[in-house]
Parts: sequence; C-alpha cells; structure tokens
Amino acid sequence: MSLPPGFLDELRSRTSLADVVGRKVIWDARKSNQAKGDMWAPCPFHQEKTASFHVEDRKGFYYCFGCHAKGDLFKFVQETENVSFIEAVEILAREAGMTMPERDPQAQEKADRQTELADVTEAAAQFFRLQLKTGAAQAARDYLDRRGLSADMRARFEIGFAPNSRTATLEALGAKGINQARIIEAGIASKPDDGGAPYDAFRDRIVFPIRNQRGRCIGFGGRAMDPNARAKYLNTRETPLFDKGRALFNHGPARAAAGKGEPVIVAEGYMDVIALVQAGFGAAVAPLGTAITEDQLRLLWRMADEPIVALDGDKAGLRAAMRLIDIALPMLEPGKSLRFALMPPGQDPDDLIRTGGADAMTRVLDGAAPLVDLLWRRETEGRVFDSPERRAALDVALNKAVAMIRDPGLRHHYGQTLKDLRWRFFRPKGRAKTSRIPDIAPRAETAGSALAAGEVAETAMRSSLILATLAHHAPLIETFETALERLDTGDFELNRLCQCLLRLSGQGQNDLNAAIDAENLRETLENLMLLGHVRLQAWIRDPNSSDQAQQCLTEEFAKLAARRGIDHELAEGREELSGDEVRPHLAWRINEAVRKRHEAERALGEDGSDDDLVDQRDRERFLRVIEGAGRKEKRH
Ligand code: UTP
Ligand code: MN
Repeated sequence: MSLPPGFLDELRSRTSLADVVGRKVIWDARKSNQAKGDMWAPCPFHQEKTASFHVEDRKGFYYCFGCHAKGDLFKFVQETENVSFIEAVEILAREAGMTMPERDPQAQEKADRQTELADVTEAAAQFFRLQLKTGAAQAARDYLDRRGLSADMRARFEIGFAPNSRTATLEALGAKGINQARIIEAGIASKPDDGGAPYDAFRDRIVFPIRNQRGRCIGFGGRAMDPNARAKYLNTRETPLFDKGRALFNHGPARAAAGKGEPVIVAEGYMDVIALVQAGFGAAVAPLGTAITEDQLRLLWRMADEPIVALDGDKAGLRAAMRLIDIALPMLEPGKSLRFALMPPGQDPDDLIRTGGADAMTRVLDGAAPLVDLLWRRETEGRVFDSPERRAALDVALNKAVAMIRDPGLRHHYGQTLKDLRWRFFRPKGRAKTSRIPDIAPRAETAGSALAAGEVAETAMRSSLILATLAHHAPLIETFETALERLDTGDFELNRLCQCLLRLSGQGQNDLNAAIDAENLRETLENLMLLGHVRLQAWIRDPNSSDQAQQCLTEEFAKLAARRGIDHELAEGREELSGDEVRPHLAWRINEAVRKRHEAERALGEDGSDDDLVDQRDRERFLRVIEGAGRKEKRH
C-alpha cells in the first residue's frame, strides 16, 4: 500500500514519541527533563536496572547506550508490538485519529473477495469444531487422547473433525446459505474434472484450521487416523486465500509470543507445533507440508533475529536443513540468521517432549548450532581430504556458498569463519607439538616418568573410541559394563558421557539417544566423532555393525587394561625412585615394566609407539573437546 505524501509527517507531528515509549517504560524522574523532552528510562529492549535508554522527543528518536537499540516512532512500535511497518503506521494512525488512505480498486476487489472466502472457511472451521463433539467423532477424540492433546490445546488450536461422508460439509455450509461455488473456491470442497458432483475435501480426518498472522482462517490441515489412509496429512489446496508458501501454522500467536521474548521455533508439522505450545514454547510455527520458502523466512525474521529450526535428527531432516541453508544464505543480513537444533535421531519435537518433557526440548534448543556450522558440516562430513585435489574442491564449494551471501560485511565474516575452521581442520602436524601438547601430557619429573608422555593421551584416545562406539551400539553396553565401570577417561566431560552410558545399560538405542540429548552430551559426542581415529572407523554409526563394534571394544578395553596393569607397576617403581636412594633393582623393575608393556601391546597387534598411536592433530582436537567442555561449564 502506498501512503500519500505528507501522511507520515502529519502522523509524526500528531504523535509524541515520549508518550508512545512511556507506555512501555518507567521514566527515570531524576535523569529526565520533561520540559525539554529529554527522557531517560531503563531500556525496554534489554534487561537492566540503570536508565540507559534515551528518548529525544523533539527530534523523535530513541537510542540505548547499553544495547544500542535506536530508531524512531515507527521502529519503536514495530519492535515492541512485533508488527510490520505498515501495521505500525495503522496502529499509530488509529490512535492519532487519522484515516488510512484507501487502497487502489484492484487491491480492494481482491481484499473483498478474500474476505468473502474467509467467511466460508470460518463457517467450515466452526462446523468441524462442532463435529468433534458428536458421537461420530468418538474415534477422533480417542485419537487425540492417545496423542496427549490437552482440552486446553484442542480449544486453543480449534481442532475439529471432518465427518466420514462425501458431502456432509458441503451440505452443512449450503444449509447456512453459502453458495456452492464459494465453498469450492475456498477449497472446502472439490469439483471433479469430469463434471461429476462436488465432494468434501476433508473426510474422516482430524482438522486443524490454519490462520494467517491476522487470525483469519485461510485453510485447513487434516490428519487421517487410519494408518492406511491415502495421505497421512491433507492440506487445503492453493486458493485465492491460501498461499502455502506464505503462511505458517500458528503464525499469529507465535508472533505475539516472540514479541514477549520467547524463542521462535520452526518445526516440521502441526503436531510438533501443538506439542511445543503445550510444553510452553509459545512461539512455535511450522510450514504447511512444504519446504520452507523465502517468503516464510522473511516472516520468520520479522518475528526474531535468529529463529531456531528444529530438525528431525534423521537423514531427511538434515537434507532439508541443507536445502534451507541455500535458500537462507542470500537472504542473511547482519544479525539475521538461523540456528539449527538437531533432534535425536528418529524423533520430532512432539516425540521428544513426550519422552523427555520440556526440559529435553530446552536442552536441544540450547545446543542449537549456528548456520555456519551446518554449512561447514555439509561440505566436510563423511569426506576425506587426503589429496590437494580434494582440498581444492572443498575450497571451491565453500567459496561458492560464501558467494551466495549478498551482504558484503557478512560475506567477509563468513569467509573468515570458514577459513578459521578450515585452518584448524588441516592444521599441520608439526605446529601443534610446540604449543598445547605438554599441557595435557604429564611432565617428565622422575626418571621413570619419561614413559608417561603420551599415557594420558593414549588413555583419552582409547576411551574416546570406546565411548563413541558404545554411544552408537547401546545393546553392547551391558556386555562391557564392568570394564566401562573401571574406565577413567581423565576428562570431566567424557566421564559424564561414560556415566550416562552406564545408566542406560540394558536399554535401547532410542532411550540412549534421548538421554544423551537430555544430559546435554550430544556436542561432546559429536566432537568425539570428529577425532581422526574415531572417524576412521566408518562403521561406528552403522547399527548393523555390532560384530565389528564388539571386536573393537574387546581390543580397546584389553589394551587399556594392559596399560593400567603396567602403569600400576611403574607408579610403584617411581614412588620408590623418588626416595633418597636410587637402588639398582628399581631401575631393573622399571625396565621390566616397559618391556612387558611393549610385549603386551605387540601381542595385541600394535607396535606400541606412542607417536603412531596418537596423531598430533587428534590430540589438538581432543584438547578442543576438553576446552569446549570447560567453556560449557563456565556458562552454566
Ligand atoms: P510427518 O510425516 O513428519 O508427520 O509430517 P508428523 O508431523 O510427525 O505428524 P504425526 O506426528 O505423525 O501426526 C510433517 C508434516 O508434513 C506434512 C504435514 O504438514 C506434517 O505436519 N505432511 C506430512 C503432509 O502434508 N502430507 C503427508 O502425507 C505427510
Ligand atoms: Mn510426529
């Protein structure tokens, strides 16, 4: 809609910014000078006790010295009411007693037609809702009970039932005097191409009304209860009212909730949104059976700077995320991005909330990864970059992705971040030696402990392989329970993972996955999976490879046990060595221990050389796993 010249100026002159802001803040009386229109208050855009938010009423601008929020009258209403510019103008114009200008005739006609169709969908929504209360809807009510939908949620989402009949809806709406052509145009009924009689679009389905952000009913989603139904979900076809790619399920309420600071969550389906809302995540939305479009992204970014996309933790979910990245990249702006929350494999938010409650969902959301992480993952996961050609191909792919970003500043930062990731990934082995390694390896302080170099790292490497394997082969935990109980990885975060595995002993993979997420260990595990010696075991993630897993676990535990036995002897020897006298027989004991260790390792098919055993790059990564864990601890 175009506004006539001077309209906004007139509106500005009729409205005081201080008055509008004054409804949202409590002015600091001492700091403010009302006569001059120089007003101060605690900022409405961030949490603070001091008054850093400044309004210059005469100039019509605000600025926060704390969070740097700034803008004018319209921006303030947009931000605080979470509305578009034109909606902000509408709100303010109404308050100022100004009439909004007429729309052009064509737009007016379209609007009128949509209003007419919306009356039809509204009548249909009401009919469906009433049907859910009838005797014929017993199975539908039972179904909703089974899925744990509270009465409150049924009312809030206006859930209804479409009777199992070809024409019940058509007839009911016809009886209300609604023209059949309108019913068809609104997508409530369909007319066959062969000229046959029109029939109801939804039959024997649970019906979810879909409303646009202004609350107008634009279409429906219908879920079959019969698992053999032709389609699990059926949505209203495209109509003048219903444009799937521009609508979001639960849009209006989500927008209001987002305005109050709730995180915007994008789920895949209707039931996910309802489960999320029921669990207290009011700003949940879903697209309508299609992949997320550019238009929907724009709507999302009007609700929040960083909506969180909740992805099914399966391959299809990841694929969808990867496609979404390509749509989002050209649209990114400074501050506006997406985050990706990976659900446990095979679970959607509805499942996760049912098994782990709102807490489990919160933890998954807390662990949401920035878009750049997924981009990196998309280009590197499952690939080996062992040749210049392959590395160059990676560069090409990354550059191509970065080039899609339109905003120059952001493009630059993406380039930098990816360069960093790349550098860390391919860091030359030699470099690492001088920097971090001595920090984890114990220092050689006594004659015997020259042997200790690499011991810690070896234990860590073996433990990480063991934990990564067991985390993907839950049924084997029970088999190795005793050995696992004795495992001390030497690292807080890995020990936590170990405890989690032990607790889940005897339970299935799904339960284990849920527990790993619930205990916020997913990141730790994924970091382990990045370690070279773990990554090399391509079978780990394959649930059908349990023979291989069992063999690997047997060997690794045996090697750890061998080392432990020898370390024990060595430790005793060292203790005595640190005494005043160095007796010859002690030196002999140490030599003997070392020899036995090498022997044991040879017997297990290994040459016992620490440097082959532990790649420097892996030590570095391992350090990062630990550092990351340290950071996490600080945050909480
Ligand atoms: P899912 O198949 O993941 O189902 O579809 P769901 O959301 O978990 O639903 P429940 O829990 O089995 O009831 C996700 C979304 O994809 C669309 C719907 O919008 C659905 O909510 N969809 C799915 C369809 O449009 N048609 C289908 O046949 C299936
Ligand atoms: Mn589901």
